[in-house]
Amino acid sequence: MKEQHPNRAIVMEVSNLEKSFGSNKVLDDFNLKLYKGENLVVMGKSGSGKSVMVKCLVGLLEADDGLITIRDKNITSLSQESLDILRTEIGFLFQGSALYDSMTVRENLEFPLRRHKERLDITESNQELVAEALENVGLAHAIDLMPSELSGGMKRRVALARALILKPSIIIYDEPTTGLDPITAKEIIALMNTIQETYGTSALIITHDIDCARVVADRVILLIDGKNYIEGTFQELAGSTDPQVRAFFK
Ligand SMILES: Nc1ncnc2c1ncn2[C@@H]1O[C@H](COP(=O)(O)OP(=O)(O)O)[C@@H](O)[C@H]1O
Ligand SMILES: [Mg+2]
Repeated sequence: MKEQHPNRAIVMEVSNLEKSFGSNKVLDDFNLKLYKGENLVVMGKSGSGKSVMVKCLVGLLEADDGLITIRDKNITSLSQESLDILRTEIGFLFQGSALYDSMTVRENLEFPLRRHKERLDITESNQELVAEALENVGLAHAIDLMPSELSGGMKRRVALARALILKPSIIIYDEPTTGLDPITAKEIIALMNTIQETYGTSALIITHDIDCARVVADRVILLIDGKNYIEGTFQELAGSTDPQVRAFFK
């Protein structure tokens, strides 16, 4: 079993998060703490609000209420510039990869560098950063290919390289294994653990893939009815006698 709370420092905290769309209350007092260096998995059935939650975290959606602190900064009260700097500390792997189809792999990876690199204290050249990021995901040879020339698993790796290129201290994965065949999914899962071990990255992993959760999770939160219904290790949740939890894990 993986180590729990390897270090108790909190890198991200969400308190009393609320988000509705019209009369559809998606998040209703959702809370989480992400500890430094851990892989925290949030599970929940389709449509339970997992993507809405991460979009609130990265500022793609505005929460109705609640507090989000990232590295001790309340993101709702930051200036645009401070927010942009903070965002460079978070790598986000979107559901479904979301590569730019008209750009080569190299250009896809250069995109976040062009937007953010000036603000950061990075001395390596873009070329070095792109090469390093691709090597980390085992795709150095694919640098000049177009997304249409890549398999689903390769696309996911390129998206991961792009999420990691600014060396974020936090990475958020939204359904990293969805749409992949089981073998490719296993490779991506192994890569997620390697990234955690190599860089000590703190990760928030959204998934409904039980196998993924079993292998990567230090801790699991189950999202039901907009709330963190239960939290614990994978083994604790999988062994729960609560009917709603059992329904999810069987
Ligand atoms: N931009 C939006 N406008 C209106 N409703 C939305 C929007 N985004 C998500 N929703 C609704 O919020 C709920 C949760 O969606 P989502 O977070 O994508 O679920 P999942 O847990 O599968 O990621 C769904 O009912 C969805 O229809
Ligand atoms: Mg989703």
